[in-house]
Amino acid sequence: MSASYEIQDGVAVITLSNPPVNGLGYETRKAVAEGLARAQADASVKAIVLTGAGKAFSGGADIKEFGSPKALAEPNLLSLIRAAELCTKPIVAAVHSVCMGGGLELALGCHYRVTSPGANVALPEVKLGLIPGAGGTQRLPRVLGVETALNMIVSGEPVKSEVLAGIPGQKLFDKLIDGDLMAGALAFAREVADVRPLPLVRDMKVKHPNAHAYFQFARNTVGAMAKNYPAPRKCVDAVQASVDKAFDAGMAFERETFINLMWTPECKALRHAFFAERATSKIPDVPEDTPTRAVNKLAVIGAGTMGGGIAMNFLNAGIPVVMLEQKQEALDRGVATIRKNYESQVKKGKLKQDKYEQRMALLSTTLSYADLADADMVIEAVFEDMAVKKAVFEQLDAVMKPGAILASNTSTLDVNQIANFTKRPQDVIGTHFFSPANVMKLLEVVRGAATAKDVLATVMQLGKKIRKTCVVSGVCDGFIGNRMIEQYSRQAGFLLEEGCTPAQVDRAAEKFGFAMGPFRMGDLAGNDVGWYIRKRRYVEKPNLRYSKTADLLCEKGRFGQKTGAGWYDYQAGKRDAIPSAEVEQMIADHRASLGITPRKISDDEIVHRLVFSLVNEAARLLEEGIALRASDVDMVYLTGYGFPIFRGGPMCYADTYGLFNVVQMMKTYAANPLDDGEFWQPAPLLLKLLAEGKSLV
Ligand code: NAI
Repeated sequence: MSASYEIQDGVAVITLSNPPVNGLGYETRKAVAEGLARAQADASVKAIVLTGAGKAFSGGADIKEFGSPKALAEPNLLSLIRAAELCTKPIVAAVHSVCMGGGLELALGCHYRVTSPGANVALPEVKLGLIPGAGGTQRLPRVLGVETALNMIVSGEPVKSEVLAGIPGQKLFDKLIDGDLMAGALAFAREVADVRPLPLVRDMKVKHPNAHAYFQFARNTVGAMAKNYPAPRKCVDAVQASVDKAFDAGMAFERETFINLMWTPECKALRHAFFAERATSKIPDVPEDTPTRAVNKLAVIGAGTMGGGIAMNFLNAGIPVVMLEQKQEALDRGVATIRKNYESQVKKGKLKQDKYEQRMALLSTTLSYADLADADMVIEAVFEDMAVKKAVFEQLDAVMKPGAILASNTSTLDVNQIANFTKRPQDVIGTHFFSPANVMKLLEVVRGAATAKDVLATVMQLGKKIRKTCVVSGVCDGFIGNRMIEQYSRQAGFLLEEGCTPAQVDRAAEKFGFAMGPFRMGDLAGNDVGWYIRKRRYVEKPNLRYSKTADLLCEKGRFGQKTGAGWYDYQAGKRDAIPSAEVEQMIADHRASLGITPRKISDDEIVHRLVFSLVNEAARLLEEGIALRASDVDMVYLTGYGFPIFRGGPMCYADTYGLFNVVQMMKTYAANPLDDGEFWQPAPLLLKLLAEGKSLV
């Protein structure tokens, strides 16, 4: 059942019933339309109340129907809203909990709207690169005024119903009902049952005293804030149409704009990211109803950079944490850092003092493994050294209770080997957080060869609870994200050798939309981290070519911001990257020593060598089964590596660019004697998809 119908004392009650948020899918729309027709035909019905069952009035379009013909099947949302307007008996929308997108547009098509306090009201379409497409841009300004409506439409952010109901002169809500919403809505419906003519939002006038200047101002502000996205500017255009045009002409303008936006790469990318995020939790052999283990208490080993940040995630979620170190000083330092982080949030007004104290009260510390015996899960974040990990996991094996989950935050070491230090490899898993761990959204969940399904399911669920985007990775050196970034960094090095400066490469990457180019990123993270990994690689893969420029930089002690100098110079206490004459000379000397004549390299070549190196390595990760799907790779890059969301991630970008073109370019790069020809052979998966006429995502 997708909407129910009943009569209560002369009022027909139509209740949307499509869990979880009463999405307006085909069956639901059809049931509502039938309900309206039935009420219309029944002489005993004087008025109609439209509401939603459970946790929402309606969350809007049914996302399961996105892009499918069902979304447009009659009655589509526009026809349903029209049916409501044409109804000759008054319809009262009883709004509660969630009223968003198409849900709000449907309510705006009703004659009256009543609401309970606390409902989240929004038109969030802009977040998917769209504008509202069923009259939202034309009707909302009519009931809330141009400025309030435009703010809501451009931001997509929810506003509480009581706030909207409190705006002087607003006509969105006819009544704010404290207490029993349905009783209030029924009473209101009876009150207005005989009032004619029936009020329609489309008939209301929309005015602004200084419309032209206001829209110009709005356009400038929005243009500066959202320069990579067309939708916010189109929101301004559409709301302006509500002022400039008659209602039906405004509706036609909205429709045309909506359809044009649907085909933009930005909209495609944002919709891709929306679905990619939801897809990450689907693991083919671990169904969603896999039983999970209870995690009511967590232990963290190591109170350093990562341990402290990891602990904060769980404290924030109300889960008690015990933190273990070898020395009291290290514990004190770790706790002080956590306090400092929280205090800065309190200072900025992002955290209330009492919440801060509640969170700190959940944290305890210890020097003794015996104190971990009652923890349901432990996350190890000690030095990245197999011998240290071995000692830690052997002790954990000895003290942790049966069934406890043992996780490692290792960024490069073999999780299977770590699991085998214990007698319970089925309980061992990798949880690869990103720094700063209390801020970064990404969590790579590393599934070992022996990891039990319920352990994986538990960690995925727990990750959601601490508000991470969890992506499953198989075991390999670097997992998904860092294995790919190594190829990207190698390309950055070759680009320097062939003629670029660090600033030129960074500028091109940042113009493409990366939060930071590879060299500014290196200076922030510490160039010594990559140096350490390369030294290992030189032994493991002596034939793999790396540019030695980064090593020369590290030999000078230029590790980045922390040493006051890296690829760039830094002034004391500042983070501004200043191009360094010393580094440019170092690069030129190195080039000369290799006998390379520098050439001018276009921004296009820079960006595509960087991005397609990610794509080729990701295709290999997919072939090896390390990553489950191309969209998971995109989520890793969107949430962990500052890849521009309006491009949807490297794989989505490759599809947009055209797989054929991507493969052609890889072949061109493979022929460059100064690059790594073997690496650039297109991964077999890419060739296979191309031959089958398929795309990556
Ligand atoms: P860190 O050096 O800041 O902290 C490590 C902490 O572990 C220190 O406080 C140390 O006293 C403690 N420790 C060392 N041996 C111990 C033992 N046997 N028992 C108890 N405590 C011990 O290191 P960081 O950066 O926090 O890294 C920790 C782990 O997280 C490593 O495996 C690293 O590869 C991984 N990681 C680091 C990231 C980063 O950006 N720093 C990102 C993702 C993972």
